[in-house]
Amino acid sequence: MPTIKTIFSGIQPSGRLNIGNYIGAISQWVEMQSHYNCIFSVVDYHAITVKQDSEELRKRILEVTKIYLAAGIDPEKSIIFQQSAIPAHTELAWIFNCYGTHMSDLNKMTQFKDKSGKNQESVSVGLYDYPVLMAADILLYDTDIVPVGEDQKQHVELARDIARRFNNEFGDIFKIPQAVVRQEGAKIMSLLDPTRKMSKSDDNQNNCIALLDDVASAQKKIIRAVTDSGSEIVYDPLHKPAIANLLTIYAQLGNRQIKRLEKDYADKGYGDFKKDLADIVLKFLTDFQSKYNKISDNDAREILEDGRKKIEKIANGKMERVRKSIGVR
Ligand code: TYM
Repeated sequence: MPTIKTIFSGIQPSGRLNIGNYIGAISQWVEMQSHYNCIFSVVDYHAITVKQDSEELRKRILEVTKIYLAAGIDPEKSIIFQQSAIPAHTELAWIFNCYGTHMSDLNKMTQFKDKSGKNQESVSVGLYDYPVLMAADILLYDTDIVPVGEDQKQHVELARDIARRFNNEFGDIFKIPQAVVRQEGAKIMSLLDPTRKMSKSDDNQNNCIALLDDVASAQKKIIRAVTDSGSEIVYDPLHKPAIANLLTIYAQLGNRQIKRLEKDYADKGYGDFKKDLADIVLKFLTDFQSKYNKISDNDAREILEDGRKKIEKIANGKMERVRKSIGVR
């Protein structure tokens, strides 16, 4: 009998989750949970790679958990847990720092270069090392598939390299995972600058539609989103990146085909298109938030605790093998 594959993914509780996180990551997870063993983490130790307010972080951990649930992650089918509740993640990250990861790997990481910008000398070592913690998250559970947005593919590649190097030295300990990204929607772009990714850590929230945005202000953000020159509504990311991005959002949140939308809007202008998209966003957010508002913080706490109990044994079993293989046991 073929064994059921394992899925692992996670989101940092580091800002207000947006429709990019939903389309690129969470919506894929919801589709996958009926077919695979799914594990979804709130990766709080990744969030502290940049400064966090402790009160705010505590709140965001529950917020992200509630967002998973409101989006349709079913705790009966999937394990939902908080990364810091399982110390094996940080322990394994340390071991990978010493075995399997080269400085040259981390020097190549484009996200580190983007996030550290001109401050490369003063950002935390954690920010530099963050892909190694991500490799530990993934490899700890014999993960087959990692559903993520485009920006995380390079980090999953590193997890594969680390697993291969570790296995070469110590035998067959880790499975080699594979990243899976959506064909459409793997990189939702900023509303005001379609050359940049929509990011939850963006200082200007007019670039993003947050999942918990007030619906009227979300509509306004769509109406104010930049468009391209010309007036045709066609999917052409190279020449019309703004319209391509809005078409992708429309297709994903409105459950339409981009081809179909191009036909429907063949005789219409940007104004009509954005007005309709604003309505799609309004409907999506209203449904989403009505589910979100029914979930209490206590529900979220219980689900995280349940998840911790379910997953602890698996993590500890793998760690015992790892500790033995390197000679500390
Ligand atoms: P994070 O928290 O930045 O983002 C969470 C998920 O959302 C995706 N994403 C996007 N997808 C499409 N368009 C966008 N504009 C967009 N912005 C973000 C991300 O690709 C990601 O899938 N390091 C990870 C979290 C992590 C993780 C893991 C993921 C830690 N350990 C293990 C998978 C497996 C991160 O910072 O994602």
